[in-house]
Amino acid sequence: MARRLSVIGTGYLGATHAACMAELGYEVIGYDVDEAKIEMLRVGKVPFFEPGLPELLAKQIESGRLRFTTDITEVAEFGDVHFICVGTPQMKGSFAADLRYVYAAVDSLAPLLTREALVVGKSTVPSGTAAILAARIAKLAPGGDAVELAWNPEFLREGFAVKDTLRPERLVIGVESEHAEKVLREVWAPLTDLEIPLIVTDFATAELVKVAANSFLATKISFINAMAEICETTGADVVLLADALALDSRIGGRFLHAGLGFGGGCLPKDIRAFMARAEELGVDQAVAFLREIDAINQRRRARMVDLAREQVGGDFTGKRVGVLGAAFKPNSDDIRDSPALEVADTIHRDGGLVMLFDPEAMPNAKVRYPQLNYADSVIEACAGADVVLHLTEWREFRDLDPAVLSDVVASRHIVDGRNALDPKRWRDAGWTYRALGRP
Ligand code: UDX
Repeated sequence: MARRLSVIGTGYLGATHAACMAELGYEVIGYDVDEAKIEMLRVGKVPFFEPGLPELLAKQIESGRLRFTTDITEVAEFGDVHFICVGTPQMKGSFAADLRYVYAAVDSLAPLLTREALVVGKSTVPSGTAAILAARIAKLAPGGDAVELAWNPEFLREGFAVKDTLRPERLVIGVESEHAEKVLREVWAPLTDLEIPLIVTDFATAELVKVAANSFLATKISFINAMAEICETTGADVVLLADALALDSRIGGRFLHAGLGFGGGCLPKDIRAFMARAEELGVDQAVAFLREIDAINQRRRARMVDLAREQVGGDFTGKRVGVLGAAFKPNSDDIRDSPALEVADTIHRDGGLVMLFDPEAMPNAKVRYPQLNYADSVIEACAGADVVLHLTEWREFRDLDPAVLSDVVASRHIVDGRNALDPKRWRDAGWTYRALGRP
């Protein structure tokens, strides 16, 4: 079996998926409507920051197994299995997911599918989308019954995307026929051979696994951040609290890191899309708690701004604020719904003179937030600062020597938005160290 695969949509998910499937030995064609993106990928350049991906992409292009196109006809002719990896961002002016790219992908591909083919959705979609797409494919594809749909949600984390794709903790496939199951079991055989569990479900469950997983993760983060709020009034220390909770194996320590909260292209929009869809389905009460999860998350950003304001004497006007971090998390250049940038921009609007540095995300940040000032280094960001804010826990920031910054800042005040710096080290060097949820 040497099935030929196509990957439709070459963003964070699709570009990684395409390169990884080639690594597993398949012939792969990647497709996108964005000519510039495809031009870059063709010459082995990844249009975003993802550790390990540039090397893998170059290797697989070199091997001849991976190529890219903007021609959907070529995709239809080439592929036996077509993975849909396009984005489903939050709709403007609503909590719902914007499915236009998913529909566009299926509507352009299906009419060209004249022989046996399996279309496999990987994008995160609201409950019921797969059923709608299956009907659309049945109507549009000349290949008739030989063209089927399956759902195969993706759980990769940015920053670990290659590892998460090649060694996932589980595979989930939603199918409606034995044939579709057989095809996908074959496709994933290189991973199931390594004992990676594969769970077979219906469409509705496969869609829900992804949304439920992200809702659970968001809940875990907001839970500890709610405890941080309590700590702030009781004088308790949320980091010690989390350490103690984590030792209960029923709770566990992962995603229990209190701080500025979650951002990015997945967690915030997925919980909102879930609420929107639940409301349409008349089961909004079941996920009403997600509204609070979202609210807790938003409150952390506001609290961070308040802590910073306290440090500069109650008013940002004319104060210099050195900001470390723009990406929504380290090891990524993704700034979608980034807590760091929201904090920086709020301070800017409140009259603060923000000088920001991030190792990878500044090109994206400059496009989205041209009103902020950008520095070429940590030192430059902190020069003359009245307060330094640590908002994305890049290793480079965690390893900072306070003594090095002591001489460049105007006042030794640091607010650690990620609870990732060592308070003792900073205090010993003469700094006022403040953090979310800690005395
Ligand atoms: C997430 C899911 O983890 C992944 O399975 C899914 O496929 C896509 O969404 P990602 O958005 O890449 O992945 O980032 P993740 O590592 O989950 O972090 C999300 C946000 O939560 C980041 O802003 C991070 O800083 C924050 N976070 C994470 C915390 O604030 N505390 C934690 O303990 C963990």
